[in-house]
Amino acid sequence: MRQVSGWAVVVLAAVLAACTGRGEGADGVRFHAEGQPAQLSDWHLFDVHEGTLVPVEGVLPYDLNTPLFTDYAHKLRTVWMPEGVAAAYREDETFEFPVGTVISKTFYYPRLPGESSGTDRVLRSEGSEGRLPGGGLRLDDVRLIETRLLVRREEGWVALPYVWNAEQTEARLMRSGDLVPLTLVSADGEEEPATYAVPDQNQCAGCHGVDLQSRTLAPIGPKARHLNRDFDYVDGDGVVLQANQIERWTEVGYLEGAPSVGDVPRVARFHDGSATVEARARSYLDINCSHCHSPSGPGNTSGLWLASDVDEPLRLGRCKLPIAAGYGTGNRQYGIVPGDPDASILTFRMASNDPGVMMPELGRSVVHREGVALIEAWIRQQDGDCDTGG
Ligand code: HEC
Ligand code: HEC
Repeated sequence: MRQVSGWAVVVLAAVLAACTGRGEGADGVRFHAEGQPAQLSDWHLFDVHEGTLVPVEGVLPYDLNTPLFTDYAHKLRTVWMPEGVAAAYREDETFEFPVGTVISKTFYYPRLPGESSGTDRVLRSEGSEGRLPGGGLRLDDVRLIETRLLVRREEGWVALPYVWNAEQTEARLMRSGDLVPLTLVSADGEEEPATYAVPDQNQCAGCHGVDLQSRTLAPIGPKARHLNRDFDYVDGDGVVLQANQIERWTEVGYLEGAPSVGDVPRVARFHDGSATVEARARSYLDINCSHCHSPSGPGNTSGLWLASDVDEPLRLGRCKLPIAAGYGTGNRQYGIVPGDPDASILTFRMASNDPGVMMPELGRSVVHREGVALIEAWIRQQDGDCDTGG
């Protein structure tokens, strides 16, 4: 906790409230420049109003065009920065965030209609059930699982996993992670067991570790191409206001240096039927795989690079021989065999739940059927033949 004497806090809070509405101080976010606060409420990112969990003033909710798949969990993401500082725009990389930034991601599931709060049965959906404009979550309609924080301190980013209690009144720091048994129930009643894994604090680096040597952490999602989309904000009077996120971040002073929206890159939403299969597949691989599958990521030894700007077919897996043959490849020959998803290693590993085979290797216990179907469709529409040089 930042230690400031009582009067200074009052004066500072008044000044901040008057000039920006970033809500730091007594009624707003409490930034902790050191230590690992034991409870999520110690940060005061959220309040509960009339049974709804809402971000406090200045805590800006955001969405990505295509999210990471995590056992069908829904995610509420927020960003907050202290007074007087902003993130610097980057065209391709994660924005450059200032010291004091707090980014949160809350994982939850919509509850089944009529299901009591004590059960493990939750809705398997990719819709927006339980979620209100402006990022509010109706507590009777959702099962909160965990809230992850990435906090930018002087020494770099710190990752903190908080797990919600059954009463949904508090989330506690769980540095050793947790396992949450769930039954995912689809709208038509089909059931699938899942063992949702809250990562332990060291596993955060397995995906957020951008520098393999120093194991330095960094955010993954807040890049121009993922944020360039509309979001339903709510103003002080409760009026819903749809705005582009890049413009909104700029307007509230959280982002500097962004060009006009037409010049900001954008990846497709993976379930957007109006985008091409190619665009949707590349967006999906970008957010689900490229944090590891890049020249500097934890999957770099594979030689498979899956970011949306990679244009060399071999790097993307096309007619690429695997680094090791056999078991992990399902005895398939190449990463991608054009036109033939059933012969491609990419889809074999995405459709597997075997810990020694499955991709991503962290962060899921069930298969993302819609994701696998998309990558299969993309491979199916590719022309060429590996034996004649692609
Ligand atoms: C399986 C890989 C993986 C693991 C493990 C993982 N993350 Fe993430 N995380 C991601 C990806 C990918 C995103 C961006 C996509 C999204 O939000 O859907 C993300 C997003 C986030 C965000 C929102 C800001 C951002 O980076 O986009 C926070 C906060 C976060 N993670 C915290 C954590 C913490 C804390 C841990 C460890 C307890 C952790 N993550 C473990 C992959 C992972
Ligand atoms: C948490 C890091 C991580 C994530 C996320 C991840 N991978 Fe991997 N992947 C690896 C590592 C490490 C290897 C090399 C070891 C192995 O083959 O298991 C690998 C290997 C592979 C291989 C074999 C490559 C070869 O040519 O031998 C394929 C195919 C693959 N991954 C596909 C994917 C896909 C598709 C995704 C996203 C849906 C994904 N991976 C996400 C870490 C990751």
